[in-house]
Amino acid sequence: MKAFITGASSGLGREFARLLSEQGYDLILVARRKERLEEVKKELKTDVAIYAVDISSTFNCVKLFNKIKNEPIDLVINNAGFGVFGDFYETKLEDELDMIDLNIKAVHTLTKLFLKVFKERNRGYILNVASIASFFSGPQMASYYATKSYVLHLTEAIFEELRREESSVYIGSLCPGPMDTEFGKVANVGFSLKKYESSEVARYALLKMFERKRVIVPGFSFRCFLFLSRFVPYWLQLRILYTIQNKKISQKM
Ligand SMILES: NC(=O)c1ccc[n+]([C@@H]2O[C@H](COP(=O)([O-])OP(=O)(O)OC[C@H]3O[C@@H](n4cnc5c(N)ncnc54)[C@H](OP(=O)(O)O)[C@@H]3O)[C@@H](O)[C@H]2O)c1
Repeated sequence: MKAFITGASSGLGREFARLLSEQGYDLILVARRKERLEEVKKELKTDVAIYAVDISSTFNCVKLFNKIKNEPIDLVINNAGFGVFGDFYETKLEDELDMIDLNIKAVHTLTKLFLKVFKERNRGYILNVASIASFFSGPQMASYYATKSYVLHLTEAIFEELRREESSVYIGSLCPGPMDTEFGKVANVGFSLKKYESSEVARYALLKMFERKRVIVPGFSFRCFLFLSRFVPYWLQLRILYTIQNKKISQKM
């Protein structure tokens, strides 16, 4: 059993690595900070290969895939991602384009490349880390929310293609709410909502992924929030979300 995890140098990705290693998986871990990946590797008991690669470059994604494509990988977690916070007219274009390259293009590329291999073998799991943000438009985090909508909708469509073919390959989306990771520091925001422990989110996500759940939303309160949001008109959702996002300004890190 071998798993490939992007963004494994901190937060949720590191927790996935810990849990999967406990379950006996050998691992291929990817992130830019080599020393952090080495720290994670030292903690784990199974075989771990680390790749310090910036996967926001499509060239790097393809090169990395070509290096590892013959490994017996049966689980891929596209987890690396970050957010940009602020009014759209003020946020830096370069930051947003980097975010689109990572949150969208890297997930898209790695999903396509691994899916081809998994389909040939008719087995394998792909878990794409989206967000609770995937279901909404997010004033003051406009492009981040949009990137996560892309991840959810891409993954949902592929799920249906695989289901129609009665494929044994699984693909699903993980849609967490705020977590206690480095995400806030990178996006330079604090959260107004309660933060979930990334270890708990990772544990729940793996449980539901192995049950082949299509969309995984950790936390009862977030599942209720999503359900109730169906009854709120869109114009009101936008106003509520602006207020939630705006509270983050006063909690800037
Ligand atoms: N935390 C939250 O509140 C929250 C909520 C919903 C969804 N999410 C999603 O959960 C996922 C994990 O985020 P997190 O919360 O665990 O944040 P995090 O602690 O900041 O982890 C992000 C990971 O992505 C890696 N990464 C960033 N840019 C990269 C690049 N260009 N190439 C390769 N790796 C890169 C980082 O490592 P390096 O810096 O070493 O490259 C790090 O390992 C993200 O997709 C995020 O959007 C987070």
